[in-house]
Amino acid sequence: MSDYIHLYSGICGKALQEQPGDNDMQDHFKILVVDDDALDRRAVRRGLHKHHQGADVQEAATFSEAMEAIHTRPFDCVFLDHHLPDGNGLGWLVSLREGGDNTPVVMLTGHGDEKLAVEAIKAGASDYLPKDDLTPGMLDHCLRSALRFHQSQEQMRRAQEDLHLRDRAIAAASNGIVICDARQADYPIIYCNPAFAVMTGYPAAEVIGRNCRFLQGPETDDHGLQQVRECLRAGRECLVVLRNYRKDGSPFWNQLTISPTRGAGGEITHLIGVQTDITEQRDAEDALRLNVARQQALLRDMFASVTDGRLTLCASEDDLPQSHTRFAGPVPLSRASGIRELRRLTMGACEAAGLPDERRYDLETAVGEAAMNAVVHAGTGTGHVFTHERGAVQVWVEDEGKGITVEDLPNATLRRGYTTAGTLGHGFKMIILTVDKVFLRTDTGGTTVVLETERVPPAASWPFA
Ligand SMILES: Cc1cc2nc3c(=O)[nH]c(=O)nc-3n(C[C@H](O)[C@H](O)[C@H](O)COP(=O)(O)O)c2cc1C
Repeated sequence: MSDYIHLYSGICGKALQEQPGDNDMQDHFKILVVDDDALDRRAVRRGLHKHHQGADVQEAATFSEAMEAIHTRPFDCVFLDHHLPDGNGLGWLVSLREGGDNTPVVMLTGHGDEKLAVEAIKAGASDYLPKDDLTPGMLDHCLRSALRFHQSQEQMRRAQEDLHLRDRAIAAASNGIVICDARQADYPIIYCNPAFAVMTGYPAAEVIGRNCRFLQGPETDDHGLQQVRECLRAGRECLVVLRNYRKDGSPFWNQLTISPTRGAGGEITHLIGVQTDITEQRDAEDALRLNVARQQALLRDMFASVTDGRLTLCASEDDLPQSHTRFAGPVPLSRASGIRELRRLTMGACEAAGLPDERRYDLETAVGEAAMNAVVHAGTGTGHVFTHERGAVQVWVEDEGKGITVEDLPNATLRRGYTTAGTLGHGFKMIILTVDKVFLRTDTGGTTVVLETERVPPAASWPFA
């Protein structure tokens, strides 16, 4: 009985209230009236035309005519009588819906036929209208409410399809995906996709309701976790790489992004974590780094030995020598300016440090060469001049070019006249020959060359010359 009350209050409430935008509704509706009673069909047709002169109203008197009509062309709405000579309206409605046809249907019911009305709504009718009420006003309102109902049903159907599609995409993703509830204490997992289970070895049933920290272990870096905590506190996205552990205890590198999602009021409701296992990539990078470090160490020894200790290959900034007392600089270097100035300042420093003429000219020439290399290969550079009270001059030339690869280093430094883009150019061997000590640090972020010459030449003999 409550269904009836609901239906009646629904139909009357909807029918008698004008909705915003109703006047914008198009007039050229295509309507099918299915009724074996010609008078009733005419009443519906006339009533509809009263408010919608442009409406295209087609009539069907039997079940089979109705079937043929609906399969021939689409309709915006069907007014459907229950009693048909070759079947019943409800059966027709059921077969229509089973065939996937969502055309809005208004069921025409007899007086006191509320039971049928309920059945019709359950079977997918948008509305119903007692035949006693076939007035133009009621027909118009019924049509409008059926169309509005259909529209919202369609929107809901599309939204559900989208959701279903998204669910399938998440389930099929090769990255691990977890969704955590941000409104509950300690952000418990409320969903994880199959890839998460494959990556970590934990099935969904074992992780739902838990915080993701169960993936951490002895080598999980606290710096990365600190980043996660800060982002969660600030409600920001975050990207970190964490050392995590599978259920079987084996470690893996987890590249984790966490993105907050917000509710209508802007509050964070959920946190979505996407996990990518980058262990193989990390291992390859580590192996490469180790290889480069080994090669550099070999080269360092080789350079030191063939240059009698004059050339030191520095693996990092920490290996560069201590700078002395600043005499001049920074001097910006470019093709147009700076090189001559750096040479002049070097000569001034040599004079201040008391270097003999010949040693001054050697250092000045080497500095010019190093500065030229920087601007040729990196476009620009910077020079600094330092002195030491024991009677030494030290000149730094830095650039931010792409550096010299380990493979190119021997040729770039030791071969006379060797010059290609990305090397130190033709003058480097000359530099080594004319100053007491050269320090070289180079990587993809730039190159630093430090030249040192003392008042008195070093005693050691140098077989490289
Ligand atoms: C959505 C989401 C996904 C997370 N995924 C991981 C993960 O895969 N591995 C991990 O070690 N921590 C993950 N965390 C981080 C931990 O849950 C926790 O926030 C972190 O350990 C810092 O908090 P704590 O200091 O309370 O442990 C995730 C957090 C969130 C919100």
